Amino acid sequence: MTPDSQTSSSARALARNAPWRFLAAFLREPLTVGAPWPSSRALARAVVDTCQFAPHATVVELGPGTGAFTELLLERLNSRGRLLAIEISPTNVEVLRRRFPHCQVIHDSAENLVAHLGGRRADCIVSGLAWANMLPGLQDRIFSAICRGLAPSGQFVAFGYAHARWAPTTLRFRRLMFENFARVETSPIIWQNLPPAYVYSCWRPIGPRAAQPRTNHDPDRHRRRSRPQR
Ligand SMILES: C[S@@+](CC[C@H](N)C(=O)[O-])C[C@H]1O[C@@H](n2cnc3c(N)ncnc32)[C@H](O)[C@@H]1O
Repeated sequence: MTPDSQTSSSARALARNAPWRFLAAFLREPLTVGAPWPSSRALARAVVDTCQFAPHATVVELGPGTGAFTELLLERLNSRGRLLAIEISPTNVEVLRRRFPHCQVIHDSAENLVAHLGGRRADCIVSGLAWANMLPGLQDRIFSAICRGLAPSGQFVAFGYAHARWAPTTLRFRRLMFENFARVETSPIIWQNLPPAYVYSCWRPIGPRAAQPRTNHDPDRHRRRSRPQR
C-alpha cells in the first residue's frame, strides 16, 4: 500500500465512523447536539450550493458536527480561502480535527465567533446549528455575533428542520433573520434528510442597520424602527 492510498483509506474510515461519533455526542448532550444523526449528503449539497462565496473567501461554519457541510465547503474553497469551523462538542471537535487536519477547528461556542476572526469579517457564515433547540438568550447572543462578524455584503446560510417549522423558537429565529437582513430566501423542503429540512439564505442590509444588529431583547428596537428613514 502506498502512503497516498493509506491516507485516503484512513480518511474514508474516519468519514464512515463519523456518524457513530455524532450519535455518541448526541447521547451525551442531546439538546446541544440537536439531532441524532448528521445531515445527509443531499442537505449538505443544498446548503453549500446556496452559499455564494469566491474561492479566496473567509467562511465561518457554526456547529459543523462531524463535518457533513465542512467537507463540501473545503472542496469549494480548494485551499485558496479560509474556513473556521466552530464547534462546542468535544467529541465532534476531535472527529473534525482528525478528518480535516488542514481546517481551523475551534472548540468554542458560536457566540464567540468574532474573537476568532482576528479583526476580519466573514464573507459567508454557514450555520449547522439547531436553532429550534436554543433558549432565547443564546439565540440572541449567537445572532448578534453573526451580525457583527459578517462583512457588509456577506451572506448568512442556515437550515431548519421541517417538523419544527412552527415551534416558537423557530418562529423567533425567523423573526431575527427578517429583522436583521434585507433579503431572506427559503428553499423548498429537502426530503432526502432525516428529518426533512429546508435552507435559509440571508443577505445583509446595506447602510446603518448593518452596524446595529437588532435582537428580540433589544429595548430600543421599536424606537429605531419608527425613526424616519433617510
Ligand atoms: C444539529 S447538529 C448539526 C451538525 C452538522 N452541521 C450537520 O449538519 O450534520 C448541531 C451541531 O451544533 C453544535 N452546537 C450546538 N450549540 C453550539 C454552540 N453554541 N456553538 C457551536 N456549536 C454548537 C452541536 O454540538 C452539533 O454538532
